[in-house]
Amino acid sequence: MKRDIKDLLNPALRNIAVYKVDGGQEAAVKLNQNESPFDLPFWMKEQILEEFRLEPWNRYPDILPFRGMDAYADFLGVSRDSVIMSNGSNEMLYTIFLACLSPGKKILIPEPSFSLYEKIALLLQADIVSVPMQPSLDFDADTLIERAKQEKVDFIVLSTPNNPTGKSLSSQDIARIVRECDAIVLVDEAYIEFSREHSALVLIEECPNLIVLRTMSKALALAGMRIGFAIANPLLMAEIAKPKIPFASSRFAEITLQHVLRYYYLVTDAVSYILGERERIYMELEGIASLDVFQSDTNFLIIRVPDAQKVFHALVSSGILVRNVSGYLLMENCLRFNIGLREENDQLLEKLQSL
Ligand SMILES: Cc1ncc(COP(=O)(O)O)c(C=O)c1O
Repeated sequence: MKRDIKDLLNPALRNIAVYKVDGGQEAAVKLNQNESPFDLPFWMKEQILEEFRLEPWNRYPDILPFRGMDAYADFLGVSRDSVIMSNGSNEMLYTIFLACLSPGKKILIPEPSFSLYEKIALLLQADIVSVPMQPSLDFDADTLIERAKQEKVDFIVLSTPNNPTGKSLSSQDIARIVRECDAIVLVDEAYIEFSREHSALVLIEECPNLIVLRTMSKALALAGMRIGFAIANPLLMAEIAKPKIPFASSRFAEITLQHVLRYYYLVTDAVSYILGERERIYMELEGIASLDVFQSDTNFLIIRVPDAQKVFHALVSSGILVRNVSGYLLMENCLRFNIGLREENDQLLEKLQSL
C-alpha cells in the first residue's frame, strides 16, 4: 500500500495556499494589482524590440543579469556588487528568504503585510513572530523593536510603504530597527517612489545587516517585464547570491530596464500624475460620509465601507475591479484600489458616491 501523495510532499504545503488574485485579470477599469496605468510609449517599445532582435536568442543570458545590474547600480550611484537583479521582486523574496531562513529560525513580520512573506516563511518552516499594526493601520515601531529583541529574531521583513495598508515607517524608525536589532532586516521598498519618507538605501554602507528590495512593477510601470532588485552591502550580497536561480532574468528584461532608466523623466512625470490624483481622490472620498479613507504613501488607497463584499460586487458589476482586503488583520470591510487614469478614477468616485 503506497502512502498518500500528500504525505510524500513538504509538510509545509498543508499550511499554504496557491497564490490567487480575486476577480481575475480582466476589467474595463482595473485597479486591483497596484499597477501603473501608463504603459511604455510605443516609440520606446520599438527601440527595445529593435535592440532585442539583434540578441542571440539561442544563447543563455548571463548567470546573473549583469547588464541590468550595471545600469541600475549606475542609476542609484552604488557599486555593482551591491545589487542583484531578479525576475520580479517576488523571485528575490524567495532568494533572500532561502538565504536567511531554515526550520527553527525566527522571522518577525508586521501584520498585515504583503502575504508572500508569511507564505515563504511557512514553506521554509521558520517560526513567525507577528506584530500587529496599530488600529490606525500605522506601524508600531517600539513594539517591533521590543518583540525583535525579546524573541531574538533572526530576520525582520518590513514592507514600507506597506502593502496592504499604504502606511510607512519613518526613516528614523527604520534606522532604529536596523541599528538596534541583531537581525537581518529586509526593507521592501516596492512603493518608495510614492512615499513621503526617504529610502533606506542611505543606510546600506553603515549597516551590514540591511537589504533593500525594489521592484520595477509599480512606479516604473514594468509589471509585465518581471524586474526586481536587492541592494545590500557586498559581503551580505555575496551570501544572498548563493541560492539565486541562475539565468532567471531574460535578455529582454535587461534591455527594457536600460531603456526605461535612460528616459527616467517619464517615470517622474507618471509618479507626479499619480500623486496628484491620489490627493484629489483622497479629498473627494473624505467628503463621503459613509466611508473612511486612510492616508497613503503608495499608489493605492484604502477605504473602509459599511459592507466591503457588497461594494466590491457593485463595483465589479460596473466594470471596476478593486481588491477586497477585508480578510487581513485590522482591515475588516476595507477595499484597496490603485490610482488609475483620471477618467478611471472619476468612474470609481462616481460609483462610490452613488453607492
Ligand atoms: C510589498 C510588495 N513587495 C513585492 C511585490 C512583488 O512585486 P514584483 O514581483 O512584481 O516585483 C509586491 C507586489 O504587489 C508588493 O506589494
